[in-house]
Amino acid sequence: MIIDERVLGTTRMIALIGNPVEHSISPIIHNTLSKNLDKNLIYAAFKVQKNRMDYVVEAFKELGVVGFNVTVPFKREIMKFIDENSREALLMGAVNTVKIIDGRLYGYNTDAEGFSRSFKEETGYGFRDKNVLLIGAGGAARAIAVKIALEGAKNINIINRTSSTAEELAELINLNIDHIVSVHNVNDLDLSLVFEESDIIINTTAVGMYPDSQGVPIANTDLIQSYHIVYDVIYNPEETKFLALAKERGAKTVNGLGMLINQAIISYEIWTGVKVPDDMARELHKNIKEKILL
Ligand code: ATR
Repeated sequence: MIIDERVLGTTRMIALIGNPVEHSISPIIHNTLSKNLDKNLIYAAFKVQKNRMDYVVEAFKELGVVGFNVTVPFKREIMKFIDENSREALLMGAVNTVKIIDGRLYGYNTDAEGFSRSFKEETGYGFRDKNVLLIGAGGAARAIAVKIALEGAKNINIINRTSSTAEELAELINLNIDHIVSVHNVNDLDLSLVFEESDIIINTTAVGMYPDSQGVPIANTDLIQSYHIVYDVIYNPEETKFLALAKERGAKTVNGLGMLINQAIISYEIWTGVKVPDDMARELHKNIKEKILL
C-alpha cells in the first residue's frame, strides 16, 4: 500500500468556481506549482449554480480558504460579493482571482496581466505606441483592450460582428483611459487600411476553438502582412486555422497557452506572496504543452 501524505490536517485550500469546470487544467497547474514550491496547499474545482454563489462565498470564508479563481460564467457576478476590487478589475468588469484575508474578499483580474506578460515573453514587444487590431468585443476583449490601453497603445481598432457591443467597449476606454479606440464591423467592405496601419492583431473570440477548429474569426485573412504579430487567445487547437493562415502570410504567430499559464502564475503569486521563478514558469509552460495538451 502507498501512503499518501500530500494532504494533511494543516493543508489549506484554493478553489476554482465556474460552470462547467470539468475541462479546466487550472488544478493541474496550481497543484504542480504547490508541489514544486513545497507549499502546503491544495487546489480543487467546484461546479457552482449561479443562485448558490452567496452560500459558496460564505463557506469559503468560514472554512479558511486562501482564495479562489472564478471562471465562466461568474467573472462579473462575483464582483458584488467582493469587498475591494483592483482598479483594473473594475475597468475590466471582471474578476478571475479572489484572495480572502480575515474574511474580506479582494478581487483581481490576472487574465489581462497574463496576456500582457505572455505577449512580451513570446514576441519581445510591449504595447506602448503600438497600433492594435482587436477582433471581438466580449469579456476577453474587454480585459485585453483595457490592459493594452493602460500600457500606452497608440490606437486600438475593434472589429466585431455586433457593432453596438464594440461601441460600448470603445466608449469605456475612450472615456476612462484614453481616446484611442475606433470601431468597425466584420462585414465592413474595406478593412484594408485598418489592417495596414496595425502592428498587432489579436483574436479574442472563441471562433476556431476545438471542436469548431475550422472556424476563422474574420474572413479577410489575406489582409494580414508579414510585419504583423498575430495573437490568438485560443490554445486548443495549438494552432488555430486563423494562426495557420497568418503564418502562411509570413506573420509571427502566438497562441493563448502563455496567457493561461501566466494568469495562473500571477494568481498563485497573489495568494501565496511567493514569486514563481522564471525557469519554473518556462518549464511549466513546456510541460503543460507537451504532456497535458496532446
Ligand atoms: P468571452 O468572455 O470569451 O470574450 P463573450 O463575452 O461571449 O466571450 O464574447 C464573445 C466574442 O466573440 C464577441 O465579440 C462575439 O461577437 P458578438 O459581440 O457579435 O456576439 C464574438 N463571436 C462569438 N461567436 C462568433 C462568431 N461565430 N462569429 C463572429 N464573432 C463571434
